[in-house]
Amino acid sequence: MTPQITRISLKDYVPKGHATLSDFVIEQVPTPTKDQLKDGQIILHPLYLSVDPYQRGRLSGAKGSYVESYVKGDTITNFLVGKVTASASKDLQEGDFVLDNHGKWQTEYIVDAKDVSKAPKLDGISPEDFVGVLSMPAFTAYYGAVVLAKPKAGETILVSSASGAVGQMVVQLAKAKGLRVVGVAGSDDKVEYVKRIGADAAFNYKTCGNFVDAIKQAAPQGIDIYFDNVGGEFLDAALANIKDHARIVICGAISQYNISSPEEAYAIKNLTNILIRKASITGFIILEHFNTPDHENFVKEVTKLHKEGKIKYRTTETKGLENAPQALLDLFSGKNFGKSIVKA
Ligand SMILES: NC(=O)c1ccc[n+]([C@@H]2O[C@H](COP(=O)([O-])OP(=O)(O)OC[C@H]3O[C@@H](n4cnc5c(N)ncnc54)[C@H](OP(=O)(O)O)[C@@H]3O)[C@@H](O)[C@H]2O)c1
Repeated sequence: MTPQITRISLKDYVPKGHATLSDFVIEQVPTPTKDQLKDGQIILHPLYLSVDPYQRGRLSGAKGSYVESYVKGDTITNFLVGKVTASASKDLQEGDFVLDNHGKWQTEYIVDAKDVSKAPKLDGISPEDFVGVLSMPAFTAYYGAVVLAKPKAGETILVSSASGAVGQMVVQLAKAKGLRVVGVAGSDDKVEYVKRIGADAAFNYKTCGNFVDAIKQAAPQGIDIYFDNVGGEFLDAALANIKDHARIVICGAISQYNISSPEEAYAIKNLTNILIRKASITGFIILEHFNTPDHENFVKEVTKLHKEGKIKYRTTETKGLENAPQALLDLFSGKNFGKSIVKA
């Protein structure tokens, strides 16, 4: 009998509400074999999968977003680090570590070598760091907090989801630039971690009571930069606390990703403050900024900080490819603490 491997696909679209495990198919399929390889192809074995909130939108079947929805029945894809187990390519050899932006949630799969890249050898960086300290969300933090927000030493930055994949990097990069950092997270343990990695103040948004007052208490002089990972009511409360010429960086809106109808979307009330405070509000999608000098600078700066032990990057590692769907669902109940990755 042909040896079998695990494959994870989307059973049906989930246009609204929370996805559940039953929206995925986890099945056994035949292992790809070397004799199936065409010239230029490899067999890739995923080692570490990235699990990210934006994948929620990709389960929806909606059209017209910045990244296409998964197709019903197709294997789930996302960024991953893998190892070449067989090669018919002159560019990649068996045993090479490879980065695949569209890596399949499947124990082994065939891919064209030109569609993946060999993991660069960087001082002090291991293969799993490409889903960790050098991951897409870590770059998102760098781009949003350092490039877009144009921080100045002495300013105050507020960051939501501050212990997460993006947030923990925002906290540390902002601190390194001499800012006063206020972090917000969803448990007391997470709040403690956010303080440990450098936040000057932090609070638990689930127990703080009124958001506007809690922000005011943590940042009595007001906020120069709000790095928004959550949207909704917390964004509204941040807007109520901004100073003149504040910059609002819209990175994510996780509080709104699982609403069950358009009417449930939180309606922002304090937008007029953008006018009164002569502030700016900017959204961005990080996929536009790979292969740019900003990405090169991020890799250089963060690799150095990491090697010098000046940056911490916490991950939650789920073991087993078959548990990747649960790891994805867990992002929306805050079960991850730091960047969520799956060790396949
Ligand atoms: N613009 C871009 O290109 C880009 C790129 C990457 C990520 N993002 C966005 O950045 C945000 C953070 O992503 P990440 O990868 O760093 O995820 P993460 O923070 O590591 O994980 C998600 C966290 O969101 C919090 N959360 C979940 N449901 C929530 C809700 N209803 N209200 C408030 N908080 C909630 C939970 O933390 P707590 O326990 O603290 O609640 C959870 O642990 C997401 O919105 C994501 O979509 C944007």
